[in-house]
Amino acid sequence: MIDWIADYYENIEKYPVLSQVKPGDIKSQLPEIAPLESESMEQIMADVNSIIMPGITHWQSPNFFAYFPSNSSGPSVLGDLLSSGLGVQGMLWATSPACTELETRVLDWLADMLQLPDKFKSTSEGGSVIQDTASSAALSALLAARERKTKYQTNETGTRGNLVAYVSSQTHSSVEKAIKIAGIGKNNLRLIGVDENMAMQSDLLETAIIDDIHNGLIPFFVCATVGSTSTNAIDPLTEIGKISQKYELWMHIDAAMAGTAAICPEYRHILDGIELADSFSFNPHKWMFTNFDCNCFFVADRSALIKTLSILPEYLKNQATESGAVIDYRDWHIQLGRRFRSLKLWFVIRNYGVNGLRYHIQEHIRMAQQFAEWIRSSDEFDLVAPAPLNLVCFAHKNGNEFNRELLETINKNGEMYFTHTVVKDRYVLRMCIAQTHTTEEHVRKAWKNIQKTAADLTLTDPK
Ligand SMILES: Cc1ncc(COP(=O)(O)O)c(C=O)c1O
Repeated sequence: MIDWIADYYENIEKYPVLSQVKPGDIKSQLPEIAPLESESMEQIMADVNSIIMPGITHWQSPNFFAYFPSNSSGPSVLGDLLSSGLGVQGMLWATSPACTELETRVLDWLADMLQLPDKFKSTSEGGSVIQDTASSAALSALLAARERKTKYQTNETGTRGNLVAYVSSQTHSSVEKAIKIAGIGKNNLRLIGVDENMAMQSDLLETAIIDDIHNGLIPFFVCATVGSTSTNAIDPLTEIGKISQKYELWMHIDAAMAGTAAICPEYRHILDGIELADSFSFNPHKWMFTNFDCNCFFVADRSALIKTLSILPEYLKNQATESGAVIDYRDWHIQLGRRFRSLKLWFVIRNYGVNGLRYHIQEHIRMAQQFAEWIRSSDEFDLVAPAPLNLVCFAHKNGNEFNRELLETINKNGEMYFTHTVVKDRYVLRMCIAQTHTTEEHVRKAWKNIQKTAADLTLTDPK
């Protein structure tokens, strides 16, 4: 299997980046009922090659520029494989002490790498945990905020429909989902407007909070984003933080992809203001070479989180838990069971070294900035939003239909893969540079392909 994966990475550019199959193509080749008798690994792998592979979109291709990435690396794959082999279930310290203690240590390393305030470290009042996704982290933060605000009564009596939360119009949809799950109600979620850089307008946030208080409602939670999904916009953390403190809101920072950039000292400023936050999360499974899933969730006051999520049935009681001397991470997230995810993170950080990680992040940003410069100096294309890090949003001057066609033509061709967004009513292509093996050559090739495809389309369909 290791050889298979190594060959796959070596040959990855031979596949169309975006899978070209049609709905049902894969399922129709699979038997309707499970085999009664054992089949050999050879037979299974033959089907992987002939049936599964055509249905794969190659996220690890250096020509993958779509969405936000979900990058991976050799040490990560090996760490994940080891985790599968050990098959550890780390719900309690006692169910595998190494699973808990390695996680605590590696997350404290990360807190230092990101220059987070001490309050987010396990040696102070706070701490951190690996969760599956940024969505789960946002839900955990929201639940802890709800409980802190209602003095832990909502867990007892249920919600009363009077708590209000705030996000910007650009905040990731996972927060809206969390609002629904946590029983806050979508009607109690305020979408705050953004400025010309697509960042939350803090004066509008304060006005909305004051309005809600006048109407007898209870503001309790705000989510600020560092690196919005659409355009990588960065909300003003310090201003939002001051407002949160003034009105006693829980401030969560979602830095799902962009957070990784803060391990480079020259980009650490994107987290300025984090000292005012109650929680922060980012995904090494997006941009830090650690395969999906791996979200790191930091809280300033771990007791609020644990008090919200802790339940101790008889069958989980044990001496270590009762001694109070250990961390039981089951109390830090929604589910009980948990994988040994810190292994892959540990492998990645050790094998790259902090400087190695920084080098690759700096390279991604440098290439994206170069691409943005090409767009700026082009007569045909516009840069549609600021490009602070590794995402460039651009559009051809020929209008929305043309850009839609441009995107579809490039993706159909299979050489590379882009996705789109809409910014101020413009249909926009997104170029996100964060794949582990993307080099300047790939980026140059992409720019040439974009220009040529646009030129061909202009010839066939002059606007
Ligand atoms: C800013 C932001 N937050 C949250 C998420 C959700 O991430 P996850 O899949 O880890 O829940 C995304 C996904 O792209 C994102 O861009």
